[in-house]
Amino acid sequence: MDFEPIELAQTIEKNGTGDSLISVLEEIQARYRYLPRQAMILVSERMGVPLSQVYSVATFYNAFSLERRGRHEICVCVGTACHVRGAQRVLTWLEESLGTKPGETTSDWNYSLDTVHCLGACALGPIVVVDGEYLGQMHVRKVAELLARIEQADMAEA
Ligand code: FES
Repeated sequence: MDFEPIELAQTIEKNGTGDSLISVLEEIQARYRYLPRQAMILVSERMGVPLSQVYSVATFYNAFSLERRGRHEICVCVGTACHVRGAQRVLTWLEESLGTKPGETTSDWNYSLDTVHCLGACALGPIVVVDGEYLGQMHVRKVAELLARIEQADMAEA
């Protein structure tokens, strides 16, 4: 989605000033799936918050991204417990199927792939988080079915 300064200005107006910086950034992140540089400049100007403070908040919280993300976010846990239960096979399959590596986004902006080292639910491993939903005991077939369902849903939406 392209950056729309007028809509962003409305978001800022709605949320008020300095105290609600995180709320405004959350709305921008939800809308664009990242924080465009122009958006952070506009937030700084409209809210009267130094740009350095906006960047400081944006880079402190993992929920914010400064780079454009895919429509769907997939994160594979590669911690020890998940690794011994087959996380690497799942990750390799995803890398090959999506044509991307962890930390990257597919060229069609549909998927961002990431890894994490333990989500604190080791007994359920391997764990894959898809768009914020934790899915346990994952293996290649289940991930393939999941991707097929996501793509079907996306096509139905289009
Ligand atoms: S190693 Fe994956 S949840 Fe702990």
